[in-house]
Amino acid sequence: MKLLEDRIKQDGQVLGADVLKVDSFLNHQIDPDLMSALGEEFHARFKDTPITKILTVESSGIAPALAAGMAFHKPVVFARKHKSLTLKDHLYTAEVYSFTKKSANTIAIATKFLGPDDHVLIIDDFLANGQAVEGLIDIIAQAQAHLEGVGVVIEKSFQKGRALLDQRHIRVEALARIAAFEDGQVIFKED
Ligand code: G4P
Ligand code: NA
Ligand code: NA
Repeated sequence: MKLLEDRIKQDGQVLGADVLKVDSFLNHQIDPDLMSALGEEFHARFKDTPITKILTVESSGIAPALAAGMAFHKPVVFARKHKSLTLKDHLYTAEVYSFTKKSANTIAIATKFLGPDDHVLIIDDFLANGQAVEGLIDIIAQAQAHLEGVGVVIEKSFQKGRALLDQRHIRVEALARIAAFEDGQVIFKED
């Protein structure tokens, strides 16, 4: 998506070998007009699927997930993160390890918000190692809901998340695909 790639080129900052900082429009300050355009793009790409619910994880997934929910006119549910959970009544839970933050979290969704009649679109800000998405897929299976696909704003194609989802034949739509960082510059993947 050219609008997004241009914004990443203009305002993104490459940190070290594999991190892109986008806190001026996505991860801290949020550009509502850009989010709206991203939501419409997710809708355009998944409009052939019978989505009933958008699923994400707090906190950075919420903005693009809400934008998608507004385009689909479907509810958005975000999994909450906990350091640990003792009481798991009425919750679907999954363990998610963050390689970036080197810490584990339990993510949880109330059972009342996801069930066998749901057709789910997962939305997230970044697809890196794919651990967050794996956790949500686990929860969708527990709920006996149907996964229709995964939409991510920015995919770092050189990390293992995309390959993991491709191996499982899960449909992935990434609005910007990053092949590599070279000398602090973002190299986009040609599709
Ligand atoms: P995953 O998101 O694919 O599971 O990969 P990973 O475990 O590597 O990512 C852990 C966290 O770091 C995730 O946020 C993810 O969105 C974020 N992240 C990964 N790569 C980048 C990057 O290049 N730039 C930025 N800005 N973030 C990145 P999270 O733990 O879910 O936290 P939150 O920010 O949503 O609270
Ligand atoms: Na995220
Ligand atoms: Na994040």
